[in-house]
Amino acid sequence: MKVPYFDLKAQYAAMREEILSALDRVCQNASFILGEEVAQFEKEFAAYCGVKHCVALNSGTSALHVALLAAGVGAGDEIITTPNTFIATAEAISYTGAKPVFVDIDSATANIDPRLIARAITPRTKAILPVHLYGRPASMDAILEVSARQCLAVIEDACQAHGARYRGKRVGGFGLSAAFSFYPTKNLGGYGEGGALTTNDERVAQLARSLRDHGAVHRYTHDRVGYNYRMDGFQGAVLRIKLKQLDRWTAKRQELARQYRKHLANARIDLPNDDPHDECVYHLFAVYVDNRDAVRAELETRGVQTAVHYTGPLSLQKAYASLGYRPGSLPQAEHACERVLCLPMFPELTPEQAEYAAKTLAEIVGPK
Ligand SMILES: Cc1ncc(COP(=O)(O)O)c(C=O)c1O
Repeated sequence: MKVPYFDLKAQYAAMREEILSALDRVCQNASFILGEEVAQFEKEFAAYCGVKHCVALNSGTSALHVALLAAGVGAGDEIITTPNTFIATAEAISYTGAKPVFVDIDSATANIDPRLIARAITPRTKAILPVHLYGRPASMDAILEVSARQCLAVIEDACQAHGARYRGKRVGGFGLSAAFSFYPTKNLGGYGEGGALTTNDERVAQLARSLRDHGAVHRYTHDRVGYNYRMDGFQGAVLRIKLKQLDRWTAKRQELARQYRKHLANARIDLPNDDPHDECVYHLFAVYVDNRDAVRAELETRGVQTAVHYTGPLSLQKAYASLGYRPGSLPQAEHACERVLCLPMFPELTPEQAEYAAKTLAEIVGPK
């Protein structure tokens, strides 16, 4: 059996007519940048996340950048975040002139370990930027508690966590603002680049709208130097259609995750913890194995494609060498990166494929 790591083509085949007619509508209206479809998507996504405002942008990276700027982050500030994430999380911090301060992860969840945050705070710390990695909510209660004590802003990186629930409430409204990515492979993915900032703060929303459009407050009236971070009309149209399917797709991901857990329960691997109070939306299904690269190669030989997110923590990337982290500085994150293996996970994956992938992996690694 062949099990692809990911496949977007089947999803398009199922919604082709609806998508093409929406794209045609954008062309007929010539509303290629922002426009009605984007404005409607903003309302619908805000309602979905349970927040007051959604500002559509052209990527998750720009959403993070704008979120940090709207929190007043600038040169000389320090932002506490996780090293176990895509580099965009840290890049957005760097764009503002601030410095990322990496705090190690909790190996049970792969998210930032809130118990380690307090000791990383200095007089320069301005905000905490947790990532809901793989669609699993970060420990928001503990993060909000330490941030409130120290008067720090919290910005959620929800780029992998559309619809995930922490203690019953959807991510995107826990801090001052949150960033989402609609990169095509995300749980809610556009047909190109896309992102959004969500917030309950009217001032942040207004500032984000201005920053995404060259600092404009009205056409050709610029109160600040901004950016060209606008979402294009096609993305708004596609995302509106796909948002209607998101909960159904999430349920399929969660069912596949249950199947993986069942078939892997006795295998010699570590599975991430799911807090029963929360709802992980399984952007990725990550497991932890010894001799990861050999296991991965054997899976590939037997027809199962996998991926590694991420091959190394940001603290050890050359791009951040100037921060001075060394091997051993953040042991849990380093250990996770050495052992992590992501199994195929997308709504169109069949139960038979998931069973084959899990059983093949269990066979390769052997029993506990
Ligand atoms: C955790 C995380 N943060 C930020 C981003 C950046 O999003 P984008 O690719 O839309 O700029 C991504 C996307 O890959 C991500 O996974």
